[in-house]
Amino acid sequence: MDSIRIRGGKPLSGKIRISGAKNAALPILCATLLSDGESLLRNVPALRDIDTTSALLRFLGRDVEVAPPLVRVGAGDNVRPEAPYELVKQMRASVMVLGPLLARFGRAKVSLPGGCQIGTRPVDQHLKGLEALGATIRLSRGYIVAECKRLRGAEVVFDLPTVTGTENLMMAAALAKGRTTLVNCAREPEVEELGRVLNKMGARVSGAGTDVIHIEGADELEPFDHAIISDRIEAGTYMVAAAAAGGDVLIENAPLEDLEAVAAKLRQAGVEVGREGDCVRVRRDGRPLRAVDITTAPHPGFPTDMQAQFMVLMCLAQGTSRIVETIFENRFMHVPELSRMGAHIDVDGHTAHVHGGAPLSGATVMATDLRASASLVIAGLVATEGETEVLRVYHLDRGYEFMERKLAQLGADTVRVEGRAG
Ligand code: EPZ
Repeated sequence: MDSIRIRGGKPLSGKIRISGAKNAALPILCATLLSDGESLLRNVPALRDIDTTSALLRFLGRDVEVAPPLVRVGAGDNVRPEAPYELVKQMRASVMVLGPLLARFGRAKVSLPGGCQIGTRPVDQHLKGLEALGATIRLSRGYIVAECKRLRGAEVVFDLPTVTGTENLMMAAALAKGRTTLVNCAREPEVEELGRVLNKMGARVSGAGTDVIHIEGADELEPFDHAIISDRIEAGTYMVAAAAAGGDVLIENAPLEDLEAVAAKLRQAGVEVGREGDCVRVRRDGRPLRAVDITTAPHPGFPTDMQAQFMVLMCLAQGTSRIVETIFENRFMHVPELSRMGAHIDVDGHTAHVHGGAPLSGATVMATDLRASASLVIAGLVATEGETEVLRVYHLDRGYEFMERKLAQLGADTVRVEGRAG
């Protein structure tokens, strides 16, 4: 397993480019199952989650060629609509093959994704929605077994906004007979992007990106050629890294319009964030950071995927910051590791109080989930004493394309150590 070694204390400067959005690419890869033609995805990042999804599509019988930033999904000869535990357990988002397989083949057997480090991650809303479209769903020995000769349009009201739940239902409804209305949908930009792709395929989707989405299903759908939007969470991560390390950074291809909650909190903390051409410019000189409170929320609120990164910034601020995590039940795994680096953080259930101002010192730390890993790298950038080694960076490689290279491009002293046991 690789690790990343960081010598901190250096301000960042220069320019980096943001890659395509992982959480847009994953549902769009699943959407290729809705048609048997050859689809082409562009601006796809080189990430483990892309490889995992491609392996699943191959297992399902599709011909997939991954050459980032291009992914080509060719016709399959005999698609078998079964997604095994061995593949689904690697990545929860694999559950998004359920909707397309059921809609296209009238049946699907997909392993229940199970929980992960950040929570139990149930899929009850996915299943409730598919039943509303006429599917019979049963759970058998850890698998979801779904059947329906032809899904038919219906109204589905989600109990809570779920990103992949909304996306699963959009894809199922795209081949259902008649009109489907999804209510209380997730409003993330990646949901809106999936709506664009389904429209290219011949469905008629309106309202994607809002909390009510209408889908007129088609009898069959066409393959597509689509360039994925850029990754707002990758962009937000580098904005926070620049704010934490200090300096003056240009982030190319960053979707600032999808990061307003994060930009607002950075500005409140005393960081300069603005547009410069098609870049976002983040600047922080030696001025002290102010402690600010954040509460995570569904888009357009403060993203849960930015909580761990922002917590590191608050370790440097003057005063105490209250951070409330409302989306997942266990998304403070980065706290013990940050504490080992000298951070003063008290956790009480879903709330963390970050007592800023204590200097962070380098340490060997363990990554646990994707965004916690990113927060440990940022902590290494700001540790003024000693070196930091982040172990098990395969977590990081799930969602960040060449992070150590992009940081080095900004002047950070970061290097990947291959094959480090730990
Ligand atoms: C998506 O996960 C993202 N993943 C996550 O990003 C992100 O953290 C999350 O949305 C929230 O924004 C992808 O898009 C591939 P949810 P998802 O369903 O869809 C509960 C990353 O770091 N829930 O929106 O799995 C659930 O437990 C990853 O890139 C149900 O109760 O999240 C959670 O508390 C991590 N029943 C809340 O809803 C359901 O059927 C939101 O989860 C579904 C969800």
